[in-house]
Amino acid sequence: MKRLKLYAVMAILGTAACLLYRQLTNCGKTAPVHQSMSNLQPETSRKAVSHFKDVPDITLTVRMSSVAKLLKYFYCTMLRSLTLYWSTSHLGNLVLILDKESKDDRKFAENLQKYQKKLGINISFLYEPLPKDKRVLTTAKSQPRGYNRQLYSSFIMDEFISTPIVAWIDTDGKFTTPVTRDNILNGNKLRVKGMNTFQYAWISRWDKFTERMIGKHMPSDFMTYFPVYIWRDTITNCRNYILKHLNVSTIEKAYIRVGSIDYNMHMSPVNTIMTYAYYFEKERYDWHIDIRDVDLHNYSKLHKIPDHELTSTDMSPDLHVALHEKYYKDDKNIINRQAYCAAVNNTVLNMTQDIQKMCEPFKTNEMWVLFEFCNKVKQVHLTTWCKNKNKHCSSMIKEHYDKTRLLVNEGVYKLDLKKIKVVEEAANFHKIKCQPFL
Ligand SMILES: *[C@@H]1O[C@H](CO)[C@@H](O)[C@H](O)[C@H]1NC(C)=O
Ligand SMILES: *[C@@H]1O[C@H](CO)[C@@H](O)[C@H](O)[C@H]1NC(C)=O
Ligand SMILES: *[C@@H]1O[C@H](CO)[C@@H](O)[C@H](O)[C@H]1NC(C)=O
Ligand SMILES: *[C@@H]1O[C@H](CO)[C@@H](O)[C@H](O)[C@H]1NC(C)=O
Ligand SMILES: *[C@@H]1O[C@H](CO)[C@@H](O)[C@H](O)[C@H]1NC(C)=O
Repeated sequence: MKRLKLYAVMAILGTAACLLYRQLTNCGKTAPVHQSMSNLQPETSRKAVSHFKDVPDITLTVRMSSVAKLLKYFYCTMLRSLTLYWSTSHLGNLVLILDKESKDDRKFAENLQKYQKKLGINISFLYEPLPKDKRVLTTAKSQPRGYNRQLYSSFIMDEFISTPIVAWIDTDGKFTTPVTRDNILNGNKLRVKGMNTFQYAWISRWDKFTERMIGKHMPSDFMTYFPVYIWRDTITNCRNYILKHLNVSTIEKAYIRVGSIDYNMHMSPVNTIMTYAYYFEKERYDWHIDIRDVDLHNYSKLHKIPDHELTSTDMSPDLHVALHEKYYKDDKNIINRQAYCAAVNNTVLNMTQDIQKMCEPFKTNEMWVLFEFCNKVKQVHLTTWCKNKNKHCSSMIKEHYDKTRLLVNEGVYKLDLKKIKVVEEAANFHKIKCQPFL
């Protein structure tokens, strides 16, 4: 199945290009815009590790372009933490969706692909053409063109990704623990986290956009965790629903129409798509929504959740495996150290003396960070789900590390710090200097 993937991606991209250039008569001849570089062999295949055997294929997906700020986050935050805590051979490849017309993006890809083998991770680069209707780029008037393009792109991600699951993460997503099967799925349902952050002004803009796109209000803020796991066909279904709902022929038209309603419009595709999932595909996902200390009935009324009230099973606590670096204050760089020490603790791995010394202060530390996402804006569960650092949350942390310990002992996660140096070497190409990781 994996072997077929490259061709599948090519075929899908051909289709995507056709959709984007529907008018062109030679559509079928459109060159596939895919380069996959990898001929790495996985050291232990995914299916061979029973922990992952029933996990559908996943693509860890980043939509980015090679602008300085994003590159720095990508290398220093995302990729460094990913090399330790996301196993591409067991969970799924990293796919970067880049700008097709950009020479810099090609150079970025050419450089990075050289390091794949050393990093032991599988990266594919896909190139997305400019939207046909250039008004997409200026739809959210207060946002830069590149950002508008990235937002829009989220609505067509399913045309680029061929695996059943899209795991969506930003360049400033930072993994804080090895990822296990149970962080992704509960049974066969994809985990979703949400939070009541409706006190923030931007949420009402996202909500307005969502309501205009699909006729439903956001039941929660879903931009509160990474990666966001989405069944690939939920994106397809959501897009088709939008076309019908707005009676338009293309998603570009929908995006432009709704996004231009007023000057301050701001969109969050994650929220639109997960709100769609909440109303139309609720059974395919496992919901963990922290409504904070608000009364449930009032909450449902306030956020206009008709006939779809949350139930207690939608509101149980869940862990984070990543945080949002841009909005997380950690001046002394404590989190990476805590995270590493927790991951390596009590495993078969032999720590160097330096690491042992580094971990000494964290000997009694519990990883409460796993209940935080941002702390500059308040997206933490320590005053809600995990009030008073309660036993329930504490045991969730413990159970999680019981699982990661097994994975480390099986060699799924090698926690090899030399990989961090390799990422930093790759970043040198762009003259990017990361802060020390630990
Ligand atoms: C990388 O991806 C290719 C194509 O999907 C696959 O055949 C190969 O086994 C992967 N390698 C690793 C190390 O995961
Ligand atoms: C949808 O749009 C088409 C053409 O733009 C129009 O002919 C049709 O009446 C519209 N349908 C509805 C239900 O508004
Ligand atoms: C629900 O909201 C109303 C109006 O804001 C308030 O008076 C009431 O105390 C709330 N109920 C609960 C249980 O919080
Ligand atoms: C750790 O060190 C011990 C003793 O030196 C050695 O027997 C063992 O194989 C090492 N484990 C690993 C995973 O390298
Ligand atoms: C290390 O693992 C042991 C055994 O599971 C546990 O009791 C201890 O709390 C852990 N320490 C840290 C810092 O996580």
